[in-house]
Amino acid sequence: MSPHVTPLRWGLVGPGTIARRFADALTVVPGARLTAVYGGRPSHAEAFAAHWPATVHHELAALLADPQVDAVYVATPHSAHAEAIAAALDAGKPVLCEKPLVATAAQARAVVALAGERRVFLMEALWSRFLPSWQQLRAWIEAGEIGTVHTVQGTFCLRLPFDPASRLFAPALAGGALLDIGVYALSLAQWVIQAQGSGEPEGFDVAGRLAPTGVDLHLATQLRWAGGAVAQFVIGFDGAADNACRIHGQRGTITLQPNFWECTRVTLQRRGEPEQTLELPFRHNGFEYQIEAATACIAAGQMENAAMPLAQTLAVAELSDAMRQRLGVRYPFE
Ligand SMILES: NC(=O)c1ccc[n+]([C@@H]2O[C@H](COP(=O)([O-])OP(=O)(O)OC[C@H]3O[C@@H](n4cnc5c(N)ncnc54)[C@H](OP(=O)(O)O)[C@@H]3O)[C@@H](O)[C@H]2O)c1
Repeated sequence: MSPHVTPLRWGLVGPGTIARRFADALTVVPGARLTAVYGGRPSHAEAFAAHWPATVHHELAALLADPQVDAVYVATPHSAHAEAIAAALDAGKPVLCEKPLVATAAQARAVVALAGERRVFLMEALWSRFLPSWQQLRAWIEAGEIGTVHTVQGTFCLRLPFDPASRLFAPALAGGALLDIGVYALSLAQWVIQAQGSGEPEGFDVAGRLAPTGVDLHLATQLRWAGGAVAQFVIGFDGAADNACRIHGQRGTITLQPNFWECTRVTLQRRGEPEQTLELPFRHNGFEYQIEAATACIAAGQMENAAMPLAQTLAVAELSDAMRQRLGVRYPFE
């Protein structure tokens, strides 16, 4: 077992699509085990547990009271994250919650405050930050390989069939491209530009189109930082794009090759020098890194993860709220 990993028994809330990837990753994290599951429809939770063996609970409170649960992973639609997080924190259970941490800035302020009051670990599961490729990007920036970053440019565009009932398009489930996939772009820009000592962006422009359900279908945004850096992204559910992300500095460019949020190839191009591309495959499915990072913090009694701090999650939630407001997207539960 690697020295920084301590065994943890996980309770999983929301055994849907992405929860399978989490459960699969647990199988390669030394000592980690899935012990309990709670979901929406019991038949779905039972089918999940038949594949990834675990006790099925029919109430969230029962999962949280289960002595076999040391930590909780939340993978419900975003609209249900806040309630599950708050219940887990109240029960004293550390939480790793899927991105976006919650659906609104008000919810983000509330759960972050609660984690502080209860002194319980909370982390947004922004898995990409922990990937070898993103770590390499950060290392190159910190080493000054491309000088001061002035621009981050990327696309995150998928062509998804419109389904008003799906969590991606339903306002009641906090649908929309910004919260579902835009969070990767905003969080990456924040992380890269803050690596050189800047704070949060001082302003932004955004324009977009809404789906028939009233959630954001497509948006283009430019963020501006006080030091002059900018980030430009196109994000959408309505078409394809190359889905790379380029980080331009005074002396060169680093490219997170497509798809940037699940990147395994990263390229450094310093002006006047040969290009260097590193292949950095996942050890398993990519989720193992964030699980190990959360596990190490929980074992050390930390309240948050230094690489994915709650202040940054909160800042992206505030920015997302402001963008949704400009786009005219409002959720029925706000
Ligand atoms: N990190 C990543 O790469 C990644 C990728 C995709 C999604 N995500 C995030 O993961 C979350 C889930 O997405 P998904 O695509 O996996 O959704 P999904 O397939 O719809 O799964 C959601 C699961 O949550 C259950 N559920 C719904 N409401 C619940 C509630 N109030 N309490 C407990 N369980 C509830 C659903 O139950 P039923 O089985 O009855 O429907 C289903 O099992 C989203 O926040 C999304 O942003 C992350």
